[in-house]
Amino acid sequence: MSTLQKEIDKRRIFGIISHPDAGKTTLTEKLLLFGGAIQKAGTVKRNKAEKTATSDFMEIEKQRGISVATSVMGFNYKECKINILDTPGHKDFAEDTYRTLTAVDSVILVVDCVKGVEEQTRKLMNVCRMRHIPVMVFINKMDREGKDPFDLLEEIEKELNISTRPLSWPIGIGSTFAGVYHLYKKQLKLFSPDSKMQITDEYIELEDILSDDLDKYIGQKASNKLREEAELVEGVYEPFDLSLYRSGYLAPVFFGSAINNFGIEELLDTFIEIAPPPQARETDKRIVKPDENKFTGFIFKIHANLDPNHRDRIAFCRVCSGKFERNKFYQHTRSSKKLKFASPTSFMADAKSLVEEAWPGDVIGLYDAGNFKIGDTLTEGEVLKYIGIPSFSPEIFKELENTDPMKTKQLEKGISQLVDEGVAQLFIQNLGSRKFVGTVGELQFEVIKFRLLNEYGASCNFRSISFTKASWITSKNQEQIQLLMRSQANRIAFDKDNRPVYLSNSKWDIDSTMRDHPDVVFHETSEW
Ligand code: G4P
Repeated sequence: MSTLQKEIDKRRIFGIISHPDAGKTTLTEKLLLFGGAIQKAGTVKRNKAEKTATSDFMEIEKQRGISVATSVMGFNYKECKINILDTPGHKDFAEDTYRTLTAVDSVILVVDCVKGVEEQTRKLMNVCRMRHIPVMVFINKMDREGKDPFDLLEEIEKELNISTRPLSWPIGIGSTFAGVYHLYKKQLKLFSPDSKMQITDEYIELEDILSDDLDKYIGQKASNKLREEAELVEGVYEPFDLSLYRSGYLAPVFFGSAINNFGIEELLDTFIEIAPPPQARETDKRIVKPDENKFTGFIFKIHANLDPNHRDRIAFCRVCSGKFERNKFYQHTRSSKKLKFASPTSFMADAKSLVEEAWPGDVIGLYDAGNFKIGDTLTEGEVLKYIGIPSFSPEIFKELENTDPMKTKQLEKGISQLVDEGVAQLFIQNLGSRKFVGTVGELQFEVIKFRLLNEYGASCNFRSISFTKASWITSKNQEQIQLLMRSQANRIAFDKDNRPVYLSNSKWDIDSTMRDHPDVVFHETSEW
């Protein structure tokens, strides 16, 4: 087997998604512990700023600092090299999460057993379904009095529109939680609260849960219940089907308690067994396979330097095919520039280090003086662009007003760089060159204002406007587009790539415009 193929087979790149507070940070930390990437609790900083809607600037700055450190966390586990891509939990940063999901091959969804499926989970799962991303579910906080496991599975299936298949089964819940039974491996793991970071490896092999042996460990009452429930599970659910999981239709489910370090190992062991290695990806020209010899990759996240004296940024590049090498020239396909990188970094847990080479499924940090936009592609010369990194319509739109005409240049540069970073979307109207900034949350406007002032010395105001949705418009008939643009000029603006969008302020509004212009297609995202 070639070195390239061996390196590909070893790699897994995934994201953890959840509603805030379900336990994503805790689970991440425990996974890193199992990978030996960290030694003690508290290494992955819990980020309270994420959880409140506070507009405290210090908190925003802290958040940026933390998110750079935890954007990518690599660790080794058994034969695998695993990368976790961090996804902000706060809804105001949802766009960032959507984009990060374009760079993963699978996700682990954390659900709080007390709260069940929550708002943010629904939204993130919509993105996963759209992209057919394989999903594993970890039902967390089983040490709390939560919902009945059958009800939880039904809720997940109904609300998230995905089939489930439990691979482990909980014995009791809350105060009666006694452990989990691995339905496939036929192993029992008994629960003992342990918030210390210890890796325990005590499984009890049970050939047959019908035998009296089970009673010895968990008592007769719990044994009978487990037998009954396990039988019901086998009766109700189809056997686990790997291809259905890999194509995003079936989610295997595990139960546990992240804070108690419980149920993580089963999750991780199954993850490395079933989660897909780096996959082929679509470009505007052709599908690129990871085992192609030539390097290709794309930028899914850009992070500004925290030090305002250094304007450079870190662009996060997902390697998609071939081998990346330090100091070799690569083609930046949007600008046709040749770029080489003297100090690409890899990210292990929260430490960065210089890399000489990288393989498909790796994420490298590239220092960037302003060349990159999100979605940019690097190749060895072939002109292609990775697709599937769409912009979604923002939910809040405000008009940008320059409050310091002396600093117009700084404001323009600042806003354009922040848009390249993906902090917000910008739509410009030809008519009077009004600028509309779109985000998914109020918090971003605070971030933008603060960063424009601190990093670019520009000050601005955001004026509320009534638009609530941007639809990208296309038509086979250019005349029809022109007609719409003329008749609704005050509703038309252009995105960062100069594509026209229709800005609407209600469902009624867009529906009636659609009726009046049947030859124009209104797209939900910037790719179709
Ligand atoms: P998030 O990243 O998804 O927002 O969640 P995070 O891991 O920060 O966890 C949210 C809260 O839930 C934390 O408590 C955490 O300790 C707790 N938690 C995580 N896993 C479990 C579990 O298995 N059982 C129980 N009972 N609690 C769990 P907190 O009080 O908000 O934070 P902290 O003071 O403990 O840091």
